[in-house]
Amino acid sequence: MKVPFGDLSKQYKKYKKEFDNIISGVFAKGSFILGENLSRFETNFADYLDIKYAVGVGSATEALFLALKAIDIKNGDEVITVANTAVPTVSAIDFAGAAPVFVDIEESSYLIDTELIEGRITSRTKAIIPVHLYGNPCNMDKIMQIAKDYNLKVIEDCAQAHGAEFKGKKAGTFGDFGAFSFYPSKNLGANGDAGMLVTDNEELAIKIRLLRNYGFEDRYKSIIRGFNSRLDEIQAALLDFKLTKLDEWNLRRKQIADRYINRLSDLPIVLPSHSSENMHVFHLFVIRVAQRDKFMKFLLNEGISTIIHYPIPIHLQPAYKYLNYKDGILPVTEKLTEEIVSLPIFPDLEDNEVEYVIESIKKFYN
Ligand SMILES: Cc1ncc(COP(=O)(O)O)c(C=O)c1O
Repeated sequence: MKVPFGDLSKQYKKYKKEFDNIISGVFAKGSFILGENLSRFETNFADYLDIKYAVGVGSATEALFLALKAIDIKNGDEVITVANTAVPTVSAIDFAGAAPVFVDIEESSYLIDTELIEGRITSRTKAIIPVHLYGNPCNMDKIMQIAKDYNLKVIEDCAQAHGAEFKGKKAGTFGDFGAFSFYPSKNLGANGDAGMLVTDNEELAIKIRLLRNYGFEDRYKSIIRGFNSRLDEIQAALLDFKLTKLDEWNLRRKQIADRYINRLSDLPIVLPSHSSENMHVFHLFVIRVAQRDKFMKFLLNEGISTIIHYPIPIHLQPAYKYLNYKDGILPVTEKLTEEIVSLPIFPDLEDNEVEYVIESIKKFYN
């Protein structure tokens, strides 16, 4: 049997009629940028999260970048985040002209260690970007308290956390902004690139609407220095349909995660942990194993694809050498990087495929 890490062709097979109608509907209307499909999706996505404003942009990388611009980040400012994240979290900070400052993570959750944040705050710190990594929400009570105490802005990186909840409230609705990615493989994925910023702050929402479209107040009248970062009509129409499936898809991810957790708990594997008062949406199912290379090779020989998220923490990436972070400075991040591996998890993964992954892992340890 072959078990891919992801397979979006199954989604197309299931919803071919709907997708084809949606796409031809947009073509028939002939409006492709900033039209009624985007407005509708923005309204529905904001309602889903229970937040006032949602503004569609080109990607989550651009969402984070524009959010930093909207809060007036300037050259020399510092933004606190983690090094075990996707590169884009940090490239957005970098391109906005600020310096990323890394905080180590908790060994139990792999999320930002809130006990270490205050020690990294300086007079130049302007914002914190907590990353709800793998679909697991950060401790937003603690982060918002620190932000309040030190007058910092908070931009939540929700690229992997559509529908995740911290104490019953959706990820993305705590900070000044929530930044979402609709990269195709995300829990809510487009069929191309797309992203969204959400906020309860009207002034910030207006600013993002200007920033994403050359600062245009009216056609061809720029009132602030803007950019081009828009979520197109085809993607918006598809996403608006897929949003109606998000809870069902997240539930399926949770079922698969529960099955992995129940069936693998007696093996020498560290399974994902999460607090029962929060909702983890399992964008990724990340375990820790000794002898990771051997483990991955064995599964590959069995036809099972696994991936490492992420193999090089940002402070050790060649591109970010200029930050002068030395090896060993983020001990938990660096230790986990050596051990983590992600198992296949996506809504269209079949029960027999999940069983096959479980049985193959058991075989490895026999
Ligand atoms: C944690 C995190 N932040 C940001 C991004 C960037 O998202 P996008 O591909 O929409 O720019 C991603 C996607 O890979 C991500 O996983």
